[in-house]
Amino acid sequence: MATRHFLTLLDLSSDELSYLIRRAISIKNGLKTQGPTYTPFSNRTLAMIFEKSSTRTRVSFETAMAQFGGHALFLSSRDTQLGRGEPIEDTARVLSEMVDAVMIRTFSHQGLEAFAAASSVPVINALTDDYHPCQLLADVMTWTELRGHIRGKTAVWIGDGNNMCHSWINAARQFDFQLRVCCPEGYEPRQDILAAAGERVSILHDPQQAVEDADLVTTDVWASMGQEEEQAKRAADFSGFQVTEAMLDRAAKDVLFLHCLPAHRGEEISTTLLDDPRAVVWQEAGNRLHAQKALLEFLLLGRIES
Ligand code: CP
Ligand code: NVA
Repeated sequence: MATRHFLTLLDLSSDELSYLIRRAISIKNGLKTQGPTYTPFSNRTLAMIFEKSSTRTRVSFETAMAQFGGHALFLSSRDTQLGRGEPIEDTARVLSEMVDAVMIRTFSHQGLEAFAAASSVPVINALTDDYHPCQLLADVMTWTELRGHIRGKTAVWIGDGNNMCHSWINAARQFDFQLRVCCPEGYEPRQDILAAAGERVSILHDPQQAVEDADLVTTDVWASMGQEEEQAKRAADFSGFQVTEAMLDRAAKDVLFLHCLPAHRGEEISTTLLDDPRAVVWQEAGNRLHAQKALLEFLLLGRIES
């Protein structure tokens, strides 16, 4: 069987993604009732390459491998030969000889694709400048746990048309929901990604209008990793795009607020938004662990009906 990678949400079918969400919820329940007794990854190793910082992604992948009875290797580009110019394709071939899967957080999505093309073991995108698909597994899982199926619902993205926004657009395609992307002029998502999603995704520029009757509201930092120098300009350009409790009051009564974190209180969200009961970001962050377990299991062992 050909090696499966997870570089974007489009690498899996809608049916496979829905399976992953169900499986993640089932794995989470099993962990709660029985403890970490399910150990399908005895002696299996995940290499984790980080070229950018991380808290949630690193801890969730490393814990997932430990609880599954396997092992995770943290490889920072600074301390490996990657940082000294060894070609990524050579690194991919070498790691394929030794480990069972590779997780990468990097800048260039093309670089990730080049790595995956040379790898004979599954490669997982743990964030590039263009996409963050693992976060969307946890986000859709969180919605599903709390509200049921997301099909036909209306989600609103407020903020930058960035990697998270692109993955929300792909999620709207794959899970079949409506997405309103509300961003300042000049910060729209990539046109090709948007066009491929068709009528499910619309672009707006007025946050007050965008959140009207929404089932789900989400946002992200205004300056992503690698854009630190643009911070001041972006803070000015995004004025009026801060998500507040009053904004959520305009949404549906049972609206949920998600944020991939880390959050900047007082910038993209009000200082108290994460204390509002409509914000479910801690459950969302915790679900990274369970969603990634389901993903790793699927890529290494295939589908396990439950
Ligand atoms: N949401 C997310 O990916 O967090 P980290 O950057 O901490 O991994
Ligand atoms: N858009 C953010 C997401 C962090 C999880 C970034 O790329 O920095």
